[in-house]
Amino acid sequence: MEIWKWVFVGVLWYAGSVLSTSAVELGRSQHTERISGSAGDVLEDDPVGRLKVFVYELPRKYNKKILQKDPRCLTHMFAAEIFMHRFLLSSPVRTLNPDEADWFYTPVYTTCDLTTNGLPLPFKSPRMMRSAIQLISSNWPYWNRTEGADHFFVVPHDFGACFHYQEEKAIERGILPLLQRATLVQTFGQRNHVCLKDGSITVPPYAPPQKMQTHLIPEKTPRSIFVYFRGLFYDVGNDPEGGYYARGARAAVWENFKDNPLFDISTEHPATYYEDMQRAVFCLCPLGWAPWSPRLVEAVIFGCIPVIIADDIVLPFADAIPWEEIGVYVDEEDVPNLDTILTSIPPEVILRKQRLLANPSMKQAMLFPQPAQPGDAFHQVLNGLARKLPHDKSVYLRPGEKILNWTAGPVGDLKPW
Ligand SMILES: *[C@@H]1O[C@H](CO)[C@@H](O)[C@H](O)[C@H]1NC(C)=O
Ligand SMILES: *[C@@H]1O[C@H](CO)[C@@H](O)[C@H](O)[C@H]1NC(C)=O
Repeated sequence: MEIWKWVFVGVLWYAGSVLSTSAVELGRSQHTERISGSAGDVLEDDPVGRLKVFVYELPRKYNKKILQKDPRCLTHMFAAEIFMHRFLLSSPVRTLNPDEADWFYTPVYTTCDLTTNGLPLPFKSPRMMRSAIQLISSNWPYWNRTEGADHFFVVPHDFGACFHYQEEKAIERGILPLLQRATLVQTFGQRNHVCLKDGSITVPPYAPPQKMQTHLIPEKTPRSIFVYFRGLFYDVGNDPEGGYYARGARAAVWENFKDNPLFDISTEHPATYYEDMQRAVFCLCPLGWAPWSPRLVEAVIFGCIPVIIADDIVLPFADAIPWEEIGVYVDEEDVPNLDTILTSIPPEVILRKQRLLANPSMKQAMLFPQPAQPGDAFHQVLNGLARKLPHDKSVYLRPGEKILNWTAGPVGDLKPW
């Protein structure tokens, strides 16, 4: 039985270089590979019956009204905060009886305040979040019982609950003091960073499933592009020297490989972007400080092996998805050697990664579809929450015990919302 198809294996010599590289154009595998071991099983877990979630009912000004003001929030890469709410309302894990709940969810859309360009402004988020917590803690007894340790919040903004888009400011602010005991569901994921605390659940950014669906090309189309990337290399406006933007990794990609025939890289975003990814073997994901970039999701959906260039990144659902096996990690300082690194990966390794990527459960886990589907990102969040159960007895405070400091943090955050 023919398991895969070689379209051609060629050897390219490129000008001025003594380096010989075998550029391998790989056809698509004709079967998918189950993810062996626990990872696959975890991805296909059904959370129903393993946890119960109570959804607080808040005044509309915390959610629906905000969305009404700006429907763009529904297509934004941070839209997960809205879809997660909708999903939970009709999910079988929802309980209307808070006394039997394992987890409490507060539907507050802190990221739905967009500039004309569609960038979220998180300046009001801390006050809004504080106001919501004040409300749930005075109207229900559950917050005070643990000061939030059995509560989760969706905070998909750039630096999660640090609520600032500039990294230095975000670090200076730190995670909102009132959220220090809660579980945070966020796109931001970087090890040893003040904006990612232990026990958080890292999720993919929202990418519109239907839109991607309409760009699927026949599965056996050969992958004739070796390395593909579209996006900015420099952020000229904010960072003329290029050292800060994506921590310099994108600038290094451009400087080293702009003339390399194996690299199809450009700032121009073509109409065939999604189709191109399906014709590429490797898709660069220089995520740097921006793990919320939709690039990784797109690569997985289109079966393009993600080349992850982001030291210390924590990828979505990393406890369920074997990222090391699917993708290629390249240290930021090794970007100048990207060509050698990628061309020396043996074809059988590439084929295995492609087969793993073809696994539908992998793609499903990256998406927040409407309506929800088994194994999708909503279900992965629930699985993540279920795996954290039961709560340790120590999270329940003794009568009168207080840990959180309601007056900590910048004074501006203490103003009423
Ligand atoms: C929770 O504790 C705060 C004081 O920290 C108090 O103001 C509030 O009334 C308490 N909530 C309930 C429901 O008892
Ligand atoms: C709470 O935080 C404020 C502001 O940082 C500080 O002045 C105060 O001493 C803290 N309270 C406690 C009990 O730690």
